[in-house]
Amino acid sequence: MDITRDQALGLFRKYNKTESLYHHALSVEAVMRDFAEKNGEDPDFWGIAGLLHDIDWEMFPEEHCRKAPELLAEINAPDELVHAICSHGYGLVSDVEPEKYMEKVLYTIDELTGLVTATALMRPEKMKGISVKSIKKKWKDKSFAAGVNRGLIEEGAGMLGMDLSQIIQTTIDGMTKVAPELGLWPEESV
Ligand SMILES: [Fe+2]
Repeated sequence: MDITRDQALGLFRKYNKTESLYHHALSVEAVMRDFAEKNGEDPDFWGIAGLLHDIDWEMFPEEHCRKAPELLAEINAPDELVHAICSHGYGLVSDVEPEKYMEKVLYTIDELTGLVTATALMRPEKMKGISVKSIKKKWKDKSFAAGVNRGLIEEGAGMLGMDLSQIIQTTIDGMTKVAPELGLWPEESV
């Protein structure tokens, strides 16, 4: 793929001004990269799909996943990237079904990054040392981060044929790599 990360980030910044959305995009990018690296796939391509997946969300919420192709055309995004991005809203705002492994991963981890972020924010050590167990505990507490669609994550895990714990672990691993940029790493004591 010819798109560079700088191009992708430029497009993201053009259509997204909110810091929390930027952090969300960085989280999903990092997790996508980690999944790709662990599975012998292309981390650059997977990362860009993660970074751009919500490209149309801030300015075109009513057309989420449907406005995206037009915006992505500005950087000549290949069909494969457009399809992946449109499919992440399958069943909610999009009829495009996740087909490829990469698309299923994106579909699954999008919401999960929200639960990991919310859990990390409750801990003084933030992402540092966060465990699958601590996420699962919060998973069961349905009133905690109630906006996180746990059913959708389970559905995605089913599509992937993967154990939820394994998916959570890779999500933690990916987000930990960018935790300082996300404001999710403890200040080091001097
Ligand atoms: Fe998202």
